[in-house]
Amino acid sequence: MSNSTAEEKIRQLTKELQEHNYRYYILAEPTISDYEFDMKLKELEALEKEYPQYALPDSPTQKVGGETLNDFKTIKHNRPMLSLGNTYNEGELKEFDNRVQKLLGSTDYLYICELKIDGVAISLNYKDGKLVQAVTRGDGVQGDDVTENVKTIRSLATVLKGDFPHDLEVRGEIFMHRKAFEKLNEEKAKLGEPLYANPRNTTAGSLKLLDNQEVAKRPLDTYLYHVLCEERDLHSHYESLQKIKEWGLKTSEYTEQCKTIDEVLKFIAKWETKRKELSFDIDGIVIKVNNFEQQNELGFTAKVPRWAIAYKYKAETALTQLLSVDFQIGRTGAVTPVANLAPVFLSGTTVKRATLHNANEIQRLDLHYGDWVYIEKGGEIIPKITKVELAKRHEDAKPVMMLSACPGCGTPLIRKEGEANHYCPNELGCPPQIRGRVEHFISRKAMDILGLGEETVDMLVSKGLIHTVADLYKLTYNQVVSLERMADKSAQNLIKGIEDSKKIHFARVLFALGIRYVGETVAKKLALSFKSIDALASANFEELSNVDEIGEVIAQSILDYFAQKEHRDLVEELKSFGLQMAVAKDEQAVLQSNVLQNLSIVISGVFQKYSRDELKDLIETNGGKNASSVSSKTSYLLAGEGIGPAKLEKAKQLNIPIISEDDFLNLIKSADKPNDVKPPQGPQSLF
Ligand code: IVH
Repeated sequence: MSNSTAEEKIRQLTKELQEHNYRYYILAEPTISDYEFDMKLKELEALEKEYPQYALPDSPTQKVGGETLNDFKTIKHNRPMLSLGNTYNEGELKEFDNRVQKLLGSTDYLYICELKIDGVAISLNYKDGKLVQAVTRGDGVQGDDVTENVKTIRSLATVLKGDFPHDLEVRGEIFMHRKAFEKLNEEKAKLGEPLYANPRNTTAGSLKLLDNQEVAKRPLDTYLYHVLCEERDLHSHYESLQKIKEWGLKTSEYTEQCKTIDEVLKFIAKWETKRKELSFDIDGIVIKVNNFEQQNELGFTAKVPRWAIAYKYKAETALTQLLSVDFQIGRTGAVTPVANLAPVFLSGTTVKRATLHNANEIQRLDLHYGDWVYIEKGGEIIPKITKVELAKRHEDAKPVMMLSACPGCGTPLIRKEGEANHYCPNELGCPPQIRGRVEHFISRKAMDILGLGEETVDMLVSKGLIHTVADLYKLTYNQVVSLERMADKSAQNLIKGIEDSKKIHFARVLFALGIRYVGETVAKKLALSFKSIDALASANFEELSNVDEIGEVIAQSILDYFAQKEHRDLVEELKSFGLQMAVAKDEQAVLQSNVLQNLSIVISGVFQKYSRDELKDLIETNGGKNASSVSSKTSYLLAGEGIGPAKLEKAKQLNIPIISEDDFLNLIKSADKPNDVKPPQGPQSLF
């Protein structure tokens, strides 16, 4: 590799891994598997070793994790929360053992093997036996103070039992059992909300909720595995695990002592299969030298202990047979092929379906009916087919072909140039599209019509009671109550829900219409700029694309929508039923103007009147930008209670105005006269 290629590759990998770290640690939305991440990290490590002159100071190989979110108070760990070196193969594990043996100069040591729980690391501080602080790992050096949330975890003692040290730190993992996670998702599905991806992300998200009553509803659990204290009579890791139990805290019951690396390998092999029987996810095995004196002798590298290593399991795959392919029609008419599989157990659940995305994916896999396929669960709930086992293909197997006609209404499908998806163009008459549109219209973030589930929508559409969303407003109590399994009270609630939706603000009505590419944020921008549906419907391409963040694709989609008489009629009909088709006064207050244009605002802490998400929304709908960290480009630090000390310090250093929630609200209230607004000067009243 030439020097310049190496330099470029290092730069590119560093950037890519930083992005993945951010997605994993901060957004809790990883887009690649742990395995892929680790392989890339190893590649970068190797390159940096060979070309140290090009290693970047902020390389992900230099740090143990992500960054800290600004929601909670930031706390520096007493001792850094290190990560573990990890490996995916036996050879490297044996090398680890050889190193341990060489450094200790003996074979007289024991390993403790533990399950590597796929959860969120936590540090718990107990003073005189009382839990005083719980801090997330964050970037390993400092994390978030999530004490109030952690206190709600039922399996975690906030007061210790027995004989405990005055000053004690216990570290471990917070996680969610698979069943509990699935139940949460079932509830989400009922509410028509997007599902959580996996138990670990849900755990991370739960710990970051600002309302700990909400956290209490999340069934979180703990396993603790590390004790830090000045305790003289603790000599080994195993003893410390016993102590954890004596103090009334939870530690895993599956821990074992192993005398040799071969015993370790057996433990690993045993759990590779048995892990499916566990009620929670693990992603590997952690191997630790037991004796504390030996641990001290081995010490640490810059990043990880030399006395421990993690053996990581590869993402589980399963081999199963493709039975058939369904073609689902979404509300926009897009066709998604879905594979029906012979049921197979994978990562704790029985899998019967996998998404095939579009015709290109079918082509990429060269999929045939009856094929044996490998499936894998990535970060997503719906598994994907990774490849076909060609050796098992039947010679008469017929290739899976994209449909030529819509399975919902028989209309020939079309595919626009440059698009991966096929579409059914029969927008107004295709039942699955009608169902999809009604479901979108009534969903929580749109018209929020309570009491109307998927099943009822299905019945209403198939009985021909609704053809368009406007038909909802013509439904009578008698029609509803005569539906199968519809109780009197439910029918009343449904009619009331429909009636109440007439008060929903214009921006949400606009979003509810389901115009292609008009999501929640775009709908707000459009409502703010055009103020009414009539103004929007008569806007031309130029006027539309002049709106901030409205590109040509969205502008064209809006033009296409209103070009259809059926859509204009629908809007008129909805208007006649009393839906909000213009920005109301009280809505204006939250949609406001571009008073915050060119301003970058960092939010930190907890607020009285609005949640952080609402404040973020307010910033954006008023034309500002919400940034996550304080820099010289920050215009204001919007400070709430329990603001992160590091952010505060930095803002003071850089002389950035620190404003309270009220200051902020005053600032956006002046939106009526944008030219008069002067940003407050210097640090404000709060501090
Ligand atoms: S020991 C210095 N033990 O894995 C000791 N970690 O890849 C560090 N983890 O950040 C941790 N189960 O969040 C340890 N039994 C276990 C674990 C475990 C899960 C997580 C932990 C850590 C990560 C390291």
